[in-house]
Amino acid sequence: MSFQIQLQPSGITFAADENRPVLDSAIDANVTLPYGCRGGFCGACKGKVLQGQVDLGKAPEQSLPISEREAGFALLCCAKPQSNLLVDIKGASQTAAVVPPKQFPCRVNHLERLAGDVMRVMLQLPASETFAFRAGQYIDILLDNGLRRSFSIANAPSVKSELELHIRLIPGGHFTPTVFDGMKPRDILRVEGPFGTFWLREESLKPIVMLAGGTGFAPLKALVEHAIHLGVKRPVTLYWGARSPDGLYLHKLAQSWQSSLPHFRYIPVISESRQNDGWTGQRGLVHEAVLADFADLSQHEVYACGAPPMIEAARNSFTQQRGLPPEEFFSDAFTFAARAHS
Ligand SMILES: Cc1cc2nc3c(=O)[nH]c(=O)nc-3n(C[C@H](O)[C@H](O)[C@H](O)COP(=O)(O)OP(=O)(O)OC[C@H]3O[C@@H](n4cnc5c(N)ncnc54)[C@H](O)[C@@H]3O)c2cc1C
Ligand code: FES
Repeated sequence: MSFQIQLQPSGITFAADENRPVLDSAIDANVTLPYGCRGGFCGACKGKVLQGQVDLGKAPEQSLPISEREAGFALLCCAKPQSNLLVDIKGASQTAAVVPPKQFPCRVNHLERLAGDVMRVMLQLPASETFAFRAGQYIDILLDNGLRRSFSIANAPSVKSELELHIRLIPGGHFTPTVFDGMKPRDILRVEGPFGTFWLREESLKPIVMLAGGTGFAPLKALVEHAIHLGVKRPVTLYWGARSPDGLYLHKLAQSWQSSLPHFRYIPVISESRQNDGWTGQRGLVHEAVLADFADLSQHEVYACGAPPMIEAARNSFTQQRGLPPEEFFSDAFTFAARAHS
């Protein structure tokens, strides 16, 4: 059975199937809702159901506590409609320019160890496919038994034939250990994408602060390369945090952007305080480096990507202590997928 979903304040309406999460029906209808993990973990798709009934689905309590359920909130990547709905969710838009995700095979072209626990994987797109995506989006790698794992695309769409991924080894994980031990050039992977709403808001003129933790650098690399391609003149400050200098696995590339993009600054930050590692740059937590440099973020846009605790610390401190409007904080939290997409 199909129900009518109306969004507030945008006024957008679309039809949604009772057996599917509202987000999936929105994607099919070219409606862009804010979302990230599609698994109930990042909280990006949270909306308030003002009228109607939903089945909250597999939304875990950590991202949708009981108090929020009682107040009518739902995670739209999990919630299935049980009637027509009126939902309050900011940042929704409708445009034919959004590319619906599709499945296709990719060939592994090249593997390069960028750090002890980071592999660059270059995937060749099939010649018969045109794969359109926006800089900052991600793909899912489809595994056996219906499992899937999400990885951000690290190159801009102006690179036509290849997709670049930066994959961090998760010891004990189902997929990433196979990338470091077994995957080889010419292997075929099945992927689905593009997904996500972490892309450059090109219509804005505001200065940009970017914040990456570890391989959260991947989609920000895509954003910066896209900004270079577009000739963006807005000031861009990129903070890249890692535990040790080795974790800044494309440090020289990030430094080189200072000569390709006007008004670009790159600030690497190391969190481990180890003697004799030769590091002379900033130390500490990456979001604290931003707090130290910016007394006021009320006129900025922030793009943050990395581990969920880093995203939450940045979101809370920037909005509560530095006046950043919540709708100007764009993020992709690198949540684990094992119990989310299985
Ligand atoms: C939108 C998005 C984009 C991403 N992009 C990237 C990227 O560009 N690069 C990158 O390196 N990573 C990225 N990630 C993270 C990546 O998808 C995960 O690290 C992935 O799950 C690793 O797969 P795996 O099969 O190796 O590990 P998994 O099998 O998923 O297991 C990970 C580890 O966590 C444990 N675990 C699993 N679920 C839970 C849980 N709920 N609570 C506690 N522990 C748990 C497992 O036991 C295991 O030790 C992204 C994630 C998202 C959501
Ligand atoms: S919780 Fe719904 S997209 Fe992450």
